[in-house]
Amino acid sequence: MPLPSTPLHLLLLFLAAVSSGRLPGAASKSTLEPCASSTACPALLSYTLYAELRLAEVAVLFAADPLAILAANAIDYAVPDAASRILPAGLSLRVPVPCACSNGTRRTSPVRYVSRHGDTLASVASRVYGGLTAPEWIRESSGIINADDVVDAGTALLVPLHCACFGGVDSWNGVPAVYLTYVVAKGDTVPAIAKRYRTTATDVMSVNDLATTADVAAGDIVVLPLPACSSSFPTSTSDHGLAVANGTYAVTADRCVQCSCGPAGNLDLFCVPAPPLADAACSRMQCGNSSMVLGDFTLVMTAAGCRVTSCGYGGYANGTILTALTTTLKPQCPGPHQFPPLVAPPTSSFFETYLGPSPAPMPSQGGADPTMAPTGSPDAVAAGAPTTVRHLGELTGVFALCLVVGMMW
Ligand SMILES: *[C@@H]1O[C@H](CO)[C@@H](O)[C@H](O)[C@H]1NC(C)=O
Ligand SMILES: *[C@@H]1O[C@H](CO)[C@@H](O)[C@H](O)[C@H]1NC(C)=O
Ligand SMILES: *[C@@H]1O[C@H](CO)[C@@H](O)[C@H](O)[C@H]1NC(C)=O
Ligand SMILES: *[C@@H]1O[C@H](CO)[C@@H](O)[C@H](O)[C@H]1NC(C)=O
Repeated sequence: MPLPSTPLHLLLLFLAAVSSGRLPGAASKSTLEPCASSTACPALLSYTLYAELRLAEVAVLFAADPLAILAANAIDYAVPDAASRILPAGLSLRVPVPCACSNGTRRTSPVRYVSRHGDTLASVASRVYGGLTAPEWIRESSGIINADDVVDAGTALLVPLHCACFGGVDSWNGVPAVYLTYVVAKGDTVPAIAKRYRTTATDVMSVNDLATTADVAAGDIVVLPLPACSSSFPTSTSDHGLAVANGTYAVTADRCVQCSCGPAGNLDLFCVPAPPLADAACSRMQCGNSSMVLGDFTLVMTAAGCRVTSCGYGGYANGTILTALTTTLKPQCPGPHQFPPLVAPPTSSFFETYLGPSPAPMPSQGGADPTMAPTGSPDAVAAGAPTTVRHLGELTGVFALCLVVGMMW
């Protein structure tokens, strides 16, 4: 029977080629970080949805907290029912993972994936996990001894994923960094990747040991240092080592505390009580016996400069939110704190989301004295999401529309 050679058929072939990342048989390169200590460090994975998936399903794939995924993408995580939101295929997300150490190489602790009918080790690695793992890794971790690539439906596979930390520092410029693992897509170039992640081609080449800017091919794995705010919580805290990439958020302390980084100024982690979430019972986050809660600060002009007293977050220890009042002297009083802009979750109504998004406001933080509280609270910022974000979204939408129109032909 002759193969139908309709545009739809070609388009599907094209999509298959794009999603598989590289031609079969081509050897791909990946940046592996050697490691000795078993201490996990924070890392990000760049993951492109292979199908329309609920946020909860994406979270299960990576054994991650759905809200943590939204926060790491500066998507409003306080919207109702966030985990059951349907996310469109092709959406690219940053997934925060603890990056562990196994057999001398940085990789995540294996996540559990229950195979479905038709899965092969290769398809799980390249399609389901977008090339963030390798068939051999799954085989090794899952203890599969037969040479067969096909796995029976219902088999529980253990899937370790690429990740890197490199000490939480971008050695090129000495800036604290979270490393994003990125699977090179068809048509990607080093300068384009560097530009997209606001770094330089030289930095990308240096971190990944690339000889030239032409040294990447689809399916290769590179790691990208993203400027981040680091923390210095004691080792006894469960969120010890927390680092948040510039322009994004993290939720910690059993979803009671929200920490953000940037968008402007120093890379100082800024933590406030998280917006009220249905399933979180949070204690009041006061600093000592002061009237200040997490994130509050007072400013006093003195002859020597501006005395800033702030109530900061010190980590989550054994169910207790640690806080500390600190006083610093600055030459000038800082303005109100600006939060990174948040966008509304992309939904299954793909076009509505991308063609005219109106980011849902976050519940107000409340409780803080207006003279002390940062005035740029997330709800204020979310309402005025920058137009650049919106324009990018529109472009993506138009592109998707073209694809869909193409498919219908
Ligand atoms: C560790 O690596 C060696 C080869 O480098 C491999 O033979 C072995 O199976 C690996 N062990 C685990 C637990 O991954
Ligand atoms: C953080 O991101 C903002 C834009 O979101 C940018 O203007 C700023 O320069 C970045 N800071 C660093 C240290 O990269
Ligand atoms: C608590 O308040 C008392 C007096 O009201 C003060 O002397 C003490 O220093 C305060 N402690 C802290 C930790 O702020
Ligand atoms: C944490 O709490 C448990 C019981 O509440 C206690 O046994 C344990 O010693 C505590 N650990 C630390 C590090 O405080």
